[in-house]
Amino acid sequence: MKEYRIALIPGDGVGNEITDEAAKILNTAAQKHSFDVQTRRFDWGCDYYLQNGVMMPEDALETLQTFDAIFLGCIGDAGKVPDHVSLTLLLAIRKTFDQYVNLRPVKLYPGVHSPVKTATPETVDMLVVRENTEGEYSGAGGFFKMGTPDAFAIQTGIFTWKGCERVMRYAFELSRKRKKFGDKSKVGMVTNCTKSNALNYSMVFWDSVYEEVAADFPDIKTDAALVDALTMWLIKNPGYFDVIVASNLFGDIITDLMAMIQGGMGLAAGGNINPEKRYPSMFEPIHGSAPKYTGKGIVNPVASVESVRMMLDHLGEEEAALDVQKAVMQVLAEGKVKTRDLGGTGKTHEMGNEINRILRG
Ligand code: IPM
Ligand code: MN
Repeated sequence: MKEYRIALIPGDGVGNEITDEAAKILNTAAQKHSFDVQTRRFDWGCDYYLQNGVMMPEDALETLQTFDAIFLGCIGDAGKVPDHVSLTLLLAIRKTFDQYVNLRPVKLYPGVHSPVKTATPETVDMLVVRENTEGEYSGAGGFFKMGTPDAFAIQTGIFTWKGCERVMRYAFELSRKRKKFGDKSKVGMVTNCTKSNALNYSMVFWDSVYEEVAADFPDIKTDAALVDALTMWLIKNPGYFDVIVASNLFGDIITDLMAMIQGGMGLAAGGNINPEKRYPSMFEPIHGSAPKYTGKGIVNPVASVESVRMMLDHLGEEEAALDVQKAVMQVLAEGKVKTRDLGGTGKTHEMGNEINRILRG
């Protein structure tokens, strides 16, 4: 029997409650599809910081490296530790494990209300491929002349040809795969999210890489949109898009907007992926830790369950992944159990249990 070792990092705020539901689904999927999962939970995060002065132990990355995949709940609790400190945990894992693709599917499931009128379950089905290790998040810069009237800060985006190329190739490959296996006619296009009208070095460079990569995929349509205009198009006609490739910061921004198109942050999942599988990949809901809801059991676990689905897919357990997705879709379509964000009064664990019940079959 295949066995996967999965690290669980619940993190802060509502992290524990959503990780419970994620683990439940993972275990049921394993039983049903005859593979084994060994999970280990790590209590790293802001409370750990308050006790130890670091977000995770010194050998955390070495420890994580022995796992097949990581599930991360959510990190950050500004009441305890400043965000730019706590979030080093997340960014260190993404960079050290070369998780250069941040994959964020945006699909409006039947039964879910989208606040965006133009969004329908028939048309909204897109993927954002966000560059995840460099660009605006390179962490290059500094503070200068602090405490004087001439104080200034520099934050430099670093865009390497290799870094842009590999993430764009991934986006084109993905679009090709969707074209082959997808069930919609519009698939087969990669939109380049850019801003080369104003960012005359980084984004002009980014566009050049896009053009070179695109030439290797003549079967996939090219498309480009300036990031500001893209936010407008995404609301005006979300059904137009297939795969969108974006730099780290732009991808971050548009995926919060796109989460609303699919019904809210409680539904939006993501994967930090090292496609070569040299290092473990990490799957996480894209919402924050919502400290004020901690322990209340009211947040929607679907984003976490969907992250588990992406993890299963990445591990090669495609059937189990599809099964999880089917269960999620059924629960959302039936609407018998709904968390508050979906207009109901269901608790986090009730929603998780309902998905689990259907998954079990
Ligand atoms: C995300 C988050 C992170 C990011 C933060 C928490 C550093 O917003 O995963 O989208 O900006 O990447
Ligand atoms: Mn974000």
